[in-house]
Amino acid sequence: MSQPTASRRYLTTPIYYASGEPHIGHAYTTFLADALARYHRQAGGDVFFLTGTDEHGQKIQEEARRRGIAPMELCDAMAERFQEAWGDLGISYDRFIRTTEPEHQAVVQAFVQRLMDRGYIYDAEYEGWYSVHEERFFTEKELGPNRTDPIAGRPVERIREKNYFFRMSAFQDDLIQHIQENPEWIFPEKRRNEVLGFLQNPLSDLSISRPRSRLAWGIPLPFDEEHVTYVWVDALINYLTASGAIDPGKPPEQQGFDDVEGSWWPADLHLIGKDILTTHAVYWPTLLMGAGLPLPRRILAHGWWVVGETKMSKSLGNVVDPLALQGEFGSDAVRWFLLREMPTGEDASYTPERFLTRYEELANVLGNLSSRVTSMVARYQNGRIPSEVNGRGLENQITTALDQVHTSMHSLRVNEALAAAMELARAANGYVETEEPWSLARQDGKEDELAETLASLLRSLLLLAALLLPVMPGKMKELVSSLGLSQVPTIEEAQRLPLHQLAVEKAPPLFPRIED
Ligand code: MSP
Repeated sequence: MSQPTASRRYLTTPIYYASGEPHIGHAYTTFLADALARYHRQAGGDVFFLTGTDEHGQKIQEEARRRGIAPMELCDAMAERFQEAWGDLGISYDRFIRTTEPEHQAVVQAFVQRLMDRGYIYDAEYEGWYSVHEERFFTEKELGPNRTDPIAGRPVERIREKNYFFRMSAFQDDLIQHIQENPEWIFPEKRRNEVLGFLQNPLSDLSISRPRSRLAWGIPLPFDEEHVTYVWVDALINYLTASGAIDPGKPPEQQGFDDVEGSWWPADLHLIGKDILTTHAVYWPTLLMGAGLPLPRRILAHGWWVVGETKMSKSLGNVVDPLALQGEFGSDAVRWFLLREMPTGEDASYTPERFLTRYEELANVLGNLSSRVTSMVARYQNGRIPSEVNGRGLENQITTALDQVHTSMHSLRVNEALAAAMELARAANGYVETEEPWSLARQDGKEDELAETLASLLRSLLLLAALLLPVMPGKMKELVSSLGLSQVPTIEEAQRLPLHQLAVEKAPPLFPRIED
């Protein structure tokens, strides 16, 4: 495996189906990626953050038919919806890829051709129970005793059709070895064990095509126009397309399959939900092995958001709309809630009460600190800390918070990083209460102590802005504008910046109270 370079980082989210609206599940994966992207950029890294839409296949074809529009019309509309949503929610992606782009289609064809040339594709008859109504195969188990499709209850037919298969089984041992030799490759460990468990059974070959007669909305196979590429194969390859490794316009030996140097490939981190682990940790790496390409460096499979105790689903009508929450509380509060509430890798539950509790944490701890500190510096120091004052009072707490934030971010435990930053804000509020700057201000001869106390608090506030920038970019910018800065400093700068350079004004409430 090639070694990651500290300064370059390629992060991806799944590409979301262009058949449905963005919901908090999509938003969570995307916020997680965004927070990591912002954190690494802030540390001076060269980051490439990819997201996009998955636009081929049965789901899209069906949804377009249901709406009575052409599939491409649906995809154009939905790609725009996602881009707008990510704009409203502060997502700093570098590229939004759509699988209907000509560039991607060409890379998919080059990739599949490559597998064919290397002898990993063969065709065979596929036989199974097919529902014309649902336009899909069902397993014997799904059909139940009546042999009717479990969705609409219609009859099914036994059909045979030609499919192209990828020799996935040839890579079973290599994949197991890769997972065993790279214990951190799949995070968290629970998911790694799940994949290893799955690999204890013989791996079958993967059907990578659908007959065009049955599914027209896909990328034709380069060696058989009557078949289109299975949507998951098409979709996974987006990560490679966007990396720039493959240039299908070039002759085969120059396409990048033998040398990814100079491109973003391999990805440093694929962020996904646990529901799409097999496709990312089994299909994708074996496909890459088949093409002779390096594997992604890491996969993070996060947990599932439920609503109260219930699974979120369209049919139950309980899908949480991140845009509605954003309209009411602002995007940073939504980002804070989702990233703070869900331990990376675990499931978590959304309820309006939990959301409010987390919002109040922002208002009462961070918002309160910012109001108090800025108003006291404005009032007692005229907005300026004298240049000879150091402000060391909270140094230990700052060191602890810094250590914890860095360790947590590097180990992908974003929620723990946020908790550590909030702990610093709590400590700073505690310091206000024990030091009582207002009584120091009333006493003669306490001027130096007062300036020291306020300087310590100001340093903490500045640092908190830097530490929380990856989750709340808008609010942290607002916060530092009350300190006379136009940009949130990096974590490094926030530690060093001479405090006397700040021009502090009383900050308006960062997180206004919510009525009812
Ligand atoms: N198009 C595929 C992915 C292809 S990637 C090469 C797909 N799309 S999706 O629109 O269904 O979105 C998948 C992402 O949304 C996953 O990361 C999934 O975990 C996330 N979520 C969807 N519902 C979710 C929850 N209720 N909770 C958390 N995340 C969930 O799959």
